[in-house]
Amino acid sequence: MDKLVIEGGVPLAGEIGVSGAKNATLPILTAALLTAEPLTVSNVPHLRDVTTMLNLLAQMGVAVSMDEKLGVELAASRITDPVAPYELVKTMRASVLVLGPLVARCGEARVSLPGGCAIGLRPVDQHIKGLQAMGAEVSIEHGYISVRAKRLRGATICLDLVTVTGTENLMMAATLAAGTTRIENAAREPEVVDLAGCLIAMGARVRGAGTDVITIEGVERLHGARYSVMPDRIETGTFLAAAAATGGEIRLRGARPDILDSVLEKLREAGAQVDTGPDWIALKTNGALSAVSLRTAPYPAFPTDMQAQFMALNTVASGTALVTETIFENRFMHVQELIRLGADIEVEGNTAVVKGVRHLDGATVMATDLRASASLVLAGLIARGTTTVERVYHLDRGYERIEEKLSRLGARIRRVR
Ligand code: EPU
Repeated sequence: MDKLVIEGGVPLAGEIGVSGAKNATLPILTAALLTAEPLTVSNVPHLRDVTTMLNLLAQMGVAVSMDEKLGVELAASRITDPVAPYELVKTMRASVLVLGPLVARCGEARVSLPGGCAIGLRPVDQHIKGLQAMGAEVSIEHGYISVRAKRLRGATICLDLVTVTGTENLMMAATLAAGTTRIENAAREPEVVDLAGCLIAMGARVRGAGTDVITIEGVERLHGARYSVMPDRIETGTFLAAAAATGGEIRLRGARPDILDSVLEKLREAGAQVDTGPDWIALKTNGALSAVSLRTAPYPAFPTDMQAQFMALNTVASGTALVTETIFENRFMHVQELIRLGADIEVEGNTAVVKGVRHLDGATVMATDLRASASLVLAGLIARGTTTVERVYHLDRGYERIEEKLSRLGARIRRVR
């Protein structure tokens, strides 16, 4: 299994480009199931989760072709097998995103029920409740969600909590339903807006994406389209946090500062100077960082997917930070590993109390999820001496060529196979 070996203590400096967003790409790829015509998606990041999704779609009969320029063409002229098997769903929960499009297009779907996950229970009851409201018959059999509906019909669905993939699944299902669907308490994440942009390009009638009420007027059929995926805001935030934590100076091209307010605000609060243009973000630091307290919540508040990286930054900031996680019940697995590097962190319920220390010291560490692994890479960049981050496959799910990009910024990091 691959490892990353990091010699810490080098301030990051230079310029790199931001990749396409993983969490926008995954639902957009599944939107191809909604039409018999080809959907061409560009700015697709090369990630393990994207490969898993393409394999899943291919297994259902979707013709998948790729060009060298991060473009993917998907043609679902016939869906031969509307099933997402356990073997794939267990490796990637986002596979559940095929549920809505499959029922809408084929009138049936069988998707393995995702089990628990390293970061929390993560049930899919809201996805199911929404489809039932649209007239689908749902049963759980042998670990699979089986859904049937001759044709879904529009409904008003008030989600009990804000769910990103739940909103996306129901929005896709509603595009081909008879009548109008209103999703209340919808997720406002930029990735939901990006998916809506793709659906609209395919002929869907979607209004309100980016607000907490999304209205979808069902149509008889959708058509093919070309769509370019938005930049990854979490990758952007991760590199910015890494630059701040190492006392560096970087510029990120092809970024979207307009969707990163909460993260940029926290970086400024920590003492970094952040400048932005329409499609770039530059960050530099003048001396020591101050601890920043934060609380994760749905967009536009501070993203849970940035919590672990800011925890790493706080380990060496001056003062004490309170980091509260409100989205997932078990998203502090990086804490014990950061402590092994010399961090001073105590967890009380869903809050971590992080007292800044003078320095971290390198060690061998590993994490059990993507963003926790990213926080360990950040810690390795800060720490004195050598840090070895094991289980790099978590990082490969969501960060495109992370060691190459960091090397370009001057980091001493290499992958050991
Ligand atoms: N929830 C329910 N019932 C549901 C759906 C969700 O109780 O039917 C709960 C979850 O257990 C969780 C909360 O609602 O406590 C929010 O979960 P959400 O459904 O919004 O998460 P998700 O859609 O499964 C996406 C991202 C995650 C990101 C979260 C929160 C994708 C593919 N994944 O997950 O990304 O953390 O939204 O923003 O879009 C990552 O990229 O590392 C990652 C985990």
